[in-house]
Amino acid sequence: MAKPTYDFNSRVAVVTGAGGGMGEAIALALAEAGAKVTAIDMKGCPDTLKTQTNVTFAQGDLRDEGFVNRAFAETAARHGRFDYLANVAGVLWFGRDKSLLEMDMKVWDEVMDINLRTMVLTSRAATPLMKKTGGGAMVHVSTIQWMRGDPAPQDAYQASKAAVCAMSRSLAMQLAADGIRSNAICPGPALTPLQARWSTEEIRKQVAGYVPLGRIGTAADMADATLFLLSGAASFITGVELPVDGGCLLRN
Ligand SMILES: NC(=O)c1ccc[n+]([C@@H]2O[C@H](COP(=O)([O-])OP(=O)(O)OC[C@H]3O[C@@H](n4cnc5c(N)ncnc54)[C@H](O)[C@@H]3O)[C@@H](O)[C@H]2O)c1
Repeated sequence: MAKPTYDFNSRVAVVTGAGGGMGEAIALALAEAGAKVTAIDMKGCPDTLKTQTNVTFAQGDLRDEGFVNRAFAETAARHGRFDYLANVAGVLWFGRDKSLLEMDMKVWDEVMDINLRTMVLTSRAATPLMKKTGGGAMVHVSTIQWMRGDPAPQDAYQASKAAVCAMSRSLAMQLAADGIRSNAICPGPALTPLQARWSTEEIRKQVAGYVPLGRIGTAADMADATLFLLSGAASFITGVELPVDGGCLLRN
């Protein structure tokens, strides 16, 4: 079935975590819809984005506030406006991130630093630039996992992603009068480098079998949801968490 197309011509966006997976797909989709995109990641620029004339790649660590502020200010200066932020970068450290009752608190702090604090830094950098433009929209990537328990938990991940939704709602309320919307997406299982553990066809079949819609999600599924929430089609939507999970939450 045909997908809706969006017109982001003359709009300016920053996408974090664009070195692979969902961030790469979101940056590509925005650029293909006409936006000028600054794509940020610690990793180098992926091949798909290298060929996009609308994309500027900024390699760096989002924990570095100076780097974040420079990347955002340069984006606004380069294009004379700033419209969208897609907060995508995050980590899920299987093995090291486990129950809060037993995990190493250094790992807890590191996960919070990457998954939550970097999104705070980017939101702080983006907000005054959006205000100057006269409005804007943000999408923050959380997960369905924060809404439920797990017998084999990653508690730092779970708590950080709950906080991302809390941050998103608070920003939505604080910035509504400025014409800035803030929403979150909550992906279910999605086949990206983060899920390298689903390495065989058999495992992937098992994961797909858990999803009511019968398949694992893709980075493109998350890009579709993100573009919708950034677009004018969602102009009356702010402060929501949209599960993009093939129905997984129906199981609980
Ligand atoms: N894949 C899934 O099943 C799934 C499910 C729910 C939520 N998520 C969330 O989706 C988002 C995107 O993940 P993905 O699945 O595309 O994985 P991914 O590992 O491909 O992408 C995450 C990107 O973030 C970058 N990154 C991490 N820390 C960084 C830092 N400090 N500075 C700069 N870049 C940094 C990584 O280099 C990586 O390219 C994450 O926030 C993740 O928690 C993923």
